[in-house]
Amino acid sequence: MQSPKLKVWLDGKIIPYPKARVPILTHSLQYGSGVFEGIRAYEAEDGPVIFRLQDHMKRFLSSMKIYFIEQKYSQKQLEKAVIDVVKANKLSSCYIRPFAFYNTDEIGVGAYGKPVSIFIAAIPLGAYYGKGKDQGIRCKVSSWRRINSDILPVEAKGSGNYLNSIMANYEAKDSGFEEAILLSASEGYVAEGTAENIFLVEKNALVTPDKGSDILLGVTRDSVMEIADDLGIGIDERQVHKEELYSADEVFFTGTAAEITPVVNIDGIKVGNGKPGAITKKIAKKFDDVVHGRDHEYRNWLTYVK
Ligand SMILES: Cc1ncc(COP(=O)(O)O)c(C=O)c1O
Repeated sequence: MQSPKLKVWLDGKIIPYPKARVPILTHSLQYGSGVFEGIRAYEAEDGPVIFRLQDHMKRFLSSMKIYFIEQKYSQKQLEKAVIDVVKANKLSSCYIRPFAFYNTDEIGVGAYGKPVSIFIAAIPLGAYYGKGKDQGIRCKVSSWRRINSDILPVEAKGSGNYLNSIMANYEAKDSGFEEAILLSASEGYVAEGTAENIFLVEKNALVTPDKGSDILLGVTRDSVMEIADDLGIGIDERQVHKEELYSADEVFFTGTAAEITPVVNIDGIKVGNGKPGAITKKIAKKFDDVVHGRDHEYRNWLTYVK
C-alpha cells in the first residue's frame, strides 16, 4: 500500500493521495481504457533529476492520441505537472506514473466523448527485480504471444495491453521463473519482456528486436543504443530467432522500471556462463552514471527538480 502522506496531481491540482478518489465503476477500471507512462527520477548531486522527461511525455501524448483520448493539456503543461508532483513529495528519487483515463462510471464500452481525467503520482521505488538487478533473473519464453498491431496498438502504453503481459508474467512465475519473454504474434520472432525491451550480446555486439517485431519502442532501449554506440559497441536491430536467446553470450532487459537487468537463464538454459556478462555490466555502469548525472555528456537527458 502506498503511504497516505503522498501527494498526487489530479486534473491540475496537487492533492493528498487519500483524497484522489474515483467511483468503483470507473470506465478505465472496468475496461482497461486508460493510457499511462512510467518515468524515473534519480538522486543526483544537485537534487533529483527526471530521466528523459520530454521523451516520456511525448509518448504519453502519443498513446492518448492513438487511443482517441482527448488531450486536455500540452506537453509543456504535463512536464511542469510532473516536476511539481516530484517537488511536492520531496522524494530524492522516485517512480512517476502519469495516467489518463475515462472518468465516467457508466456501463458500456463506448468511451467516445466521455470525460477524461489525468493523474500523476510519484512514489518511492527501488530495483524492480530486487537483487536480480545485479545478479540477473531467470526467464521463461511464454506460451502467450506478444499482441500485434492487428489486435491492439503496440506502440501505445494502453492499460488493456498489459493483460497480455500479466498473463505471461503469471505463467512464468507459476513455472518458477522470475519473468517472461514474449515472441511476436505476427511471426514468432523474439519481441520483448512483459514491460521491458530485450538485448542480446553476440560476438561482442548488441542485437535487439526491431520495430517490426511488435515491440514498444522503449526510452531505455533508445538510451542504451546511444550509450553502446558511444562506447564503440556495435548494434544490430533485426528479427531475432528464439534459439538465439539460448546461444547468446549475454542477454539483458531494459526498461524504466527494470533499468538494465541481466537475464542469466532462459527456459532452464544458462545464458553464457550463467552470470551477468561483461558488456551488460559495462553498459549498466555507464547507464547508472548517466541517470545520476555523473556523466556530463548526457546531461541533456536530465531535468533538474529544484
Ligand atoms: C511492453 C513494454 N516494453 C518495453 C518497455 C520499456 O520502455 P521504457 O524503456 O520506455 O520504459 C516498457 C515499459 O514502459 C513496456 O511496458
